[in-house]
Amino acid sequence: MSSDFHHVPVLLAESSEYLHLKPGAVILDGTLGGGGHAEAILDRIAPGGLLVGLDLDEQALSASATRLARFGDSVRFVQSSFRHLDDALRSLGIESVDGVLLDLGVSSFQLDTPDRGFRFASSTGHATPLDMRMDPSCGSSAAELLGRASAEELQGWFQRYGELPGSKRLARAITQHRANEPLRTTADLLRVIEDAGIGRGRRHNPATLVFQALRIAVNDELAALEQGLEAAVSVLRPGGRLVVISYHSLEDRIVKHSFRAAAKGCVCPPKQPVCTCGRAPSLEIMNRRPLRPSSTETEANPRSRSARLRAAKRIPAAA
Ligand SMILES: C[S@@+](CC[C@H](N)C(=O)[O-])C[C@H]1O[C@@H](n2cnc3c(N)ncnc32)[C@H](O)[C@@H]1O
Repeated sequence: MSSDFHHVPVLLAESSEYLHLKPGAVILDGTLGGGGHAEAILDRIAPGGLLVGLDLDEQALSASATRLARFGDSVRFVQSSFRHLDDALRSLGIESVDGVLLDLGVSSFQLDTPDRGFRFASSTGHATPLDMRMDPSCGSSAAELLGRASAEELQGWFQRYGELPGSKRLARAITQHRANEPLRTTADLLRVIEDAGIGRGRRHNPATLVFQALRIAVNDELAALEQGLEAAVSVLRPGGRLVVISYHSLEDRIVKHSFRAAAKGCVCPPKQPVCTCGRAPSLEIMNRRPLRPSSTETEANPRSRSARLRAAKRIPAAA
């Protein structure tokens, strides 16, 4: 199976550069995937350094274990969400790290494996279950959520996570459909989207937004990101780097706001003359505008097109 795992790492040279890798460094890769970024990191920190790789997906961890076997003890694997990265490090007896990388979303392997249900290609839709879990062994699948969520919940997800015009209409169409038969496959959902007339006359396929919204809901992705960013700041050593690659505007907005809040520190109301919260800045933002892939990269790897990289440096706590 591992040799089937394909994923071209995005913004590889740029992320390594921002991580400021040195021999002996300790780096946490919170989204190991196929181990592409991890391999480039290990080439620069080993021997003497350590890479801790997390992923929710067991298949990703096993593919990475094969790919990174030559690094021996310089790499450790933990099946965990990055939202608990501080606990994952603690379980290995590690208090702090020199860098954290989060390369968000799904891997090409996950997208291209029909039974994971991340993709809505109509040619394979009848055989593609509505799953979408990063870790298929726990939590609820997309089919289960579609079967039990209220129309209001569904509408909220499509609106907030997909910014989908026609969210209310689609939510109603789903609850009407499931009263007769459950939605099991991506083909079932595509048919409901089409029958409800969602996105008719628009340039973009509305299914992209619907599937994005469902994936975010199934994996609680935005809350996980907020929590993961906070946990990352808490484990970085002074001068340590946090590099995040996101793939849609909702993720990028969270990264931008979280970096800005950490760079500002104080959370007192702007009109309050004296700070009473006592919060000091914890990050220095390294690029005001997100870094985008070059045209050479997007031509070679079209999936990199939407990528945006933001980087920040941990500021030592004020004395
Ligand atoms: C874009 S891929 C990473 C690819 C990797 N950088 C590489 O070079 O091969 C994203 C990975 O993050 C994992 N993932 C997504 N959300 C996660 C989370 N909250 N915690 C841990 N892993 C997560 C997915 O299972 C997937 O394998």
